[in-house]
Amino acid sequence: MKTFNVKHISLSLGLMAMIACTPKNVRLSSADDVIESRVENLLKMMTLEEKLGQMNQISSSGNIDEMRDLIARGEVGSILNETDPERINQLQKIAVEESRLGIPILMSRDVIHGFKTIFPIPLGQAASFDPEIAQEGARIAAIEATSVGIKWTFSPMVDIARDPRWGRCAEGYGEDPYLTSVMGAATVKGYQADSLSDPTAMAACAKHFVGYGATEGGRDYNSTGISERQLRNVYLPPFKAATEAGAATFMTSFNDNDGVPSTANKFILDNVLRKEWNFDGFVVTDWESAKEMIKHGFAADEHEAAVKSANAGVDMEMVSYMFVKELPSAIKQGEVDIKKIDNAVRNILRVKYRLGLFEHPYTDTNLKDKALYADDHLKAAKKAAVESAVLLKNNGILPLGSNIKKVAIVGPMADASYDQLGTWIFDGESEHTVTPLAAIRKMVGNNVNVTFEPGLTYSRDKNKDGVRRAVAAAKNADVILAFVGEEAILSGEAHCLASLELQGAQSELIAELSKTGKPVVTVVIAGRPLSIGKDADNSAALLYNFHPGTMGGEAIAELLWGKAVPSGKLPMTFPKSVGQIPMYYAHNNTGRPVVGNEVLIDNIPLHAGQTSLGCTSFYLDEGWTPLYPFGFGLSYTKFEYSNLTLDKTTYNANETIKANFTLANTGNMEATEVVQLYTHDIAASVTRPVKELKRFERVTLKPGEKKDITIELPAQELAFYNIDNQYVVEPGQFELWVSGDSQSGTPVTFEVK
Ligand code: BGC
Repeated sequence: MKTFNVKHISLSLGLMAMIACTPKNVRLSSADDVIESRVENLLKMMTLEEKLGQMNQISSSGNIDEMRDLIARGEVGSILNETDPERINQLQKIAVEESRLGIPILMSRDVIHGFKTIFPIPLGQAASFDPEIAQEGARIAAIEATSVGIKWTFSPMVDIARDPRWGRCAEGYGEDPYLTSVMGAATVKGYQADSLSDPTAMAACAKHFVGYGATEGGRDYNSTGISERQLRNVYLPPFKAATEAGAATFMTSFNDNDGVPSTANKFILDNVLRKEWNFDGFVVTDWESAKEMIKHGFAADEHEAAVKSANAGVDMEMVSYMFVKELPSAIKQGEVDIKKIDNAVRNILRVKYRLGLFEHPYTDTNLKDKALYADDHLKAAKKAAVESAVLLKNNGILPLGSNIKKVAIVGPMADASYDQLGTWIFDGESEHTVTPLAAIRKMVGNNVNVTFEPGLTYSRDKNKDGVRRAVAAAKNADVILAFVGEEAILSGEAHCLASLELQGAQSELIAELSKTGKPVVTVVIAGRPLSIGKDADNSAALLYNFHPGTMGGEAIAELLWGKAVPSGKLPMTFPKSVGQIPMYYAHNNTGRPVVGNEVLIDNIPLHAGQTSLGCTSFYLDEGWTPLYPFGFGLSYTKFEYSNLTLDKTTYNANETIKANFTLANTGNMEATEVVQLYTHDIAASVTRPVKELKRFERVTLKPGEKKDITIELPAQELAFYNIDNQYVVEPGQFELWVSGDSQSGTPVTFEVK
């Protein structure tokens, strides 16, 4: 089969450009040259102990005196979890003034979706399908965090997550490699500004490298079994995009893939990251992930764990303290080459120089007064929360009109100032949160009578009396707003669930409320996709918010009353039940896909013949479709797609496909649609996903407006790792859809020669 090697094409183009404009052996940027020579000069002066010190990250003990000696001896390259600017400066002063070489410390923290001003969790940001939201959120997070002296964050998490049981799906951008790549790259750019030397730039860390999201059974830290081809086609692309966006650092993941823990996986750390992608930043382990290789059964003791991770290509070790302890003897015994250590130190120093740490090691302690919770930060956080909300059902009750005079607000998430912030908000402060209850009261003022009876005080609450109280309070309302979902603690690291139904008595609350005959608008605030089929059935409308952050309440209030129009789309498939998992849109086809004559459990006749139900790939009880598909989300208006055509029927692999179509807003509100372009490679050297997202675009149209739109897709982006693990576009027939979600639309076909 004839193939086009895309890697080859882009390499040779890159090479030609370099030959044209640079003399031999001269790098493109002289600033880089200056940094490289500074790195080399410093490295020459360093003792082995000082080198290993740079490779050592400690977590602050909170006691400066306790850390003083270590720092003064040059044994600390980075500290995590210090957030007070005065203390950060004191620690830095010890490094700069008391250590022999005065190498500044890289101060780090998990700033995941905001420092003080909390943005929607990354999964929510992904629902906006708007990279500007991610970039601006990261920029603001960096401005706030650097104002106290934090120069390195452990974000973005670009792990593909196809199992909502996994609590950490909250931290990433969902199930799709392309969406995750775009949002992850935008986040990197936001943190790092135009240049790392910008005083408000914070080094990004692409994590967790790699495959962590494929954890067996959705249980955190568990093993994965991803083949090299799947790794390359699904799990690696967002990390590659992060390097292309300039991510300064990478973090290894906790999982062992096919028996090899990432922290000692030479293939991913050296072959892929360094040799294929030319990454020149540094790699840090996850929290004690080097040491944990002993429990994995991959290293007999700390010595072996240190040797294996250093040899695989880890540059800095997070908190295990094994490099400092074990590598001197390992080097002496020839188990680790000193060249490895020198390279690791080069990588770390390079990032420190790029960050301008040597020139500006200290932070101005007054900066924070202006930076934290600045008005424009709160405004941006609200915009992000508006764009992140997904309308999943609406029988017409939304947006609420002026006829609504009495509103009953119920449910444990209506006024949950801490929980609506979501996971990983070490520095978030719930007293700054605007809850839906507070925002609605403020927005409607005296025009609407608002009652509040939560019924359940937290999401796991099973109190039946509470349910009765809430129902009694809601009986006379024009509309009931039921705020349900998950407390922050139910998602995030190590917080996995075996059931995806609403916790506690929340489903019962919605069911009882619906019996009042009053319209129930259910507003979910959660950290993951939940299986809320019966709750949707009991609701007139359903608005889904992944933990929306500080300004979530205002965003939700405006969405409910139509001052803003929902535009979010699901970044993960919502399964009907846990039993359907794994369920994601970009699956491969079986040899027996569903044909439509399948018989589901309630319709099976007694003593049915063995082959009479349709011998295809489905569940007798749950069928084959999800509750809500990837990319799905409603609006208060209607969008219609028509006239999809391509500029040609046949393309060469180096040509660009132009998809032309018309989008019309046929409703009566101005609104934004997330247009999605999917392709399918009909026959290839390995089976390919039934659909793959290749482009998306947010398009805003006035009521009645029609727009002719063209989306361009270079045919090279149809490339994938084929039967020989070569990245190629294979010639043949393809299908292409443009639609408002991953399941609708009629495809057009084209050929690649
Ligand atoms: C998590 C990382 C995090 C690190 C530092 C680990 O437990 O897996 O994502 O960055 O802790 O707090």
